[in-house]
Amino acid sequence: MKKPDRHLITSALPYANGPIHIGHLAGVYVPSDIYTRYLRIKGEDVISICGSDEHGVPITLKARKEGVTPQEIVDYYHALNKKSFEDFGIEFDIYSRTSNKIHYETASEFFSTLYNRGEFIEKSSEQYYDTEAECFLADRYIIGTCPHCGHNAAYGDQCENCGTSLSPTDLIKPRSTVSGTKPVMKETKHWYLPLDKYQGWLRKWILEDHKEWKTNVYGQCKSWLDHGLQPRAVSRDLDWGVPVPVSGAEGKVLYVWFDAPIGYISATRELTDDWEKYWKDPGTRMIHFIGKDNIVFHCIIFPAMLKAEGSYILPDNVPANEFLNLENDKISTSRNWAVWLHEYLEEFPGEQDVLRYTLCASAPETKDNDFTWKEFQARNNNELVAILGNFVNRTLILTGNYFDGEVPPLSGTDEYDREVLAEIGVLKDKVASALDAFRFREALKEAMNLARLGNKYLADTEPWIVIKNDREKVKTILNIALQITANLTIILDPFLPFSVKKLRECLNINVIQWDNAGRDDLLSPGHKINKPGLLFRKIEDEEVEKQVNKLMETKKQNEEAPKEAEPVKENIAFDDFTKMDIRTATIIDATRVPKTKKLLELTLDTGIDRRTVVAGIAEYFDPSTIKGKKITVLVNLEPRKIKGIISQGMILMAEEDDGNLVFISPTDETKNGSRIR
Ligand code: 2FM
Ligand code: ZN
Repeated sequence: MKKPDRHLITSALPYANGPIHIGHLAGVYVPSDIYTRYLRIKGEDVISICGSDEHGVPITLKARKEGVTPQEIVDYYHALNKKSFEDFGIEFDIYSRTSNKIHYETASEFFSTLYNRGEFIEKSSEQYYDTEAECFLADRYIIGTCPHCGHNAAYGDQCENCGTSLSPTDLIKPRSTVSGTKPVMKETKHWYLPLDKYQGWLRKWILEDHKEWKTNVYGQCKSWLDHGLQPRAVSRDLDWGVPVPVSGAEGKVLYVWFDAPIGYISATRELTDDWEKYWKDPGTRMIHFIGKDNIVFHCIIFPAMLKAEGSYILPDNVPANEFLNLENDKISTSRNWAVWLHEYLEEFPGEQDVLRYTLCASAPETKDNDFTWKEFQARNNNELVAILGNFVNRTLILTGNYFDGEVPPLSGTDEYDREVLAEIGVLKDKVASALDAFRFREALKEAMNLARLGNKYLADTEPWIVIKNDREKVKTILNIALQITANLTIILDPFLPFSVKKLRECLNINVIQWDNAGRDDLLSPGHKINKPGLLFRKIEDEEVEKQVNKLMETKKQNEEAPKEAEPVKENIAFDDFTKMDIRTATIIDATRVPKTKKLLELTLDTGIDRRTVVAGIAEYFDPSTIKGKKITVLVNLEPRKIKGIISQGMILMAEEDDGNLVFISPTDETKNGSRIR
């Protein structure tokens, strides 16, 4: 493969409606930063692009809920997230935002180009409209009863109770979350990108020409393509986003997933006047770093958009990761089940690299993975402290003690010394080939193997003993240990930027380019090094227990928190209420209805008569315990035959959040047949 002239690295633009957590970091930003730093230290021409994704319905919903404007929401989270990335050393060349003017212009132009070329299909369809709020309703703005599980607060795109994907018209008794009223169907026009038209081209481009993509990415693309692609609407009826630049499109904006990836282009435009070189010259190699939920947008939809436009390059690779869980549970912003970056730094100030290291070492590269505080502690104590810190510290201290901090010369080598020196180059190559293939876990492991090699070398050669009778040999040993340390500042640079910076200061050296790694003469004899500083410290049990307890507290709060109240049903007229004849009554007898699990046959004294009512409460009450119970009953419900028994009425029950049933009983002595109104 021809060496690229330059690299364009993009990292998924996070939505500006919540802070960044470890899942984001492990899935997208740590790998993209490692890769970018690797290319930089290799001296490649590379730019790294990111920014806030500031459109979409969830942002408008959050704003509505908090009683502020969407702009206020995105301003707040943009600033917070930009700082989190900076604090963790995630070095973007630009962290832009999709509410910038340049983005509006770029996205509009992009749409117009495709529009003028007749690339879109214009289609009218009936969609839900809120007549009171006078707006079309995005799927998330409609709730109703799920046709699958009966949950009565399912969203227009998904039931969060049973997980089924829905369309708004599937909902039974739909309600608008904007005004609470029943929406009506109204015709609206939208623009669709005919993805089906690109199906053949995408099949070849991905399934034949990009067999090297990660299996999780390739597999997901194949599954989409095998199912057959459909035209996708690229506009929405919404007042937050980039307006559709076509006359007659008032009140319509570009769909967030149409405008967000164009955000990569606008951010590059904002960064450099030379942006077209990065986006249009085939010498550029573009890589999208994303999480698995973004695969279809980056591998199918955005490439189809770029292809339709015609003047842009396509991504060379999309090394998407799977998801990271936290302590065996899915990370969730709404349940506060996350480790937030800004909070981590309050607890572990200056210890960014420990988190970067742990998240890379157990990144969800091929399958979902779990982050635990215990593992975090173990990675730090057993690897960063015991292997890397220990080796570097011993090397620097011994050099200080024996040679007054001056690099000693290589004073003759034996076979073992030469083996160790040769191994440096071997490990460097292993790190490079793993990084080239986006296997970051493996790359980090091989890089740490260099520190392991150094540790073993010192343990085997025992310079602290040899110094007693062979000073010349110790010169060689420490020269080699120092050359390994200098090599570590190169090959660990992409992974542990903060610690490597400190290490360079200790060694009194500047950045050494990647190609020099593997060499055994990076430090010249006589070069003066500084006093060692502490790179890593042991993390104590109490510190991680504190973090686990914090999470347990969150779990407890979530369990105790009242569930979201069921929305109130539509208003009814007073007359409707008075139609119901509800009376107090006493249960005289109760028996199970044979061959059913749920039904009890109740005999009631209603004060008017004795009657039979069949009730679905057998799972909650033993018939023998409810005889004599005062209850309330709807006596004028149309009689119904249930399992061959005529049921004359309905017992009123309260249903608690967990489904538990409680009789509605008068608390004071009441005569049977008293009317309830
Ligand atoms: O999933 C997300 O967080 C999206 N905001 C990612 C967008 S990536 C790109 F297309 F901008
Ligand atoms: Zn459901």
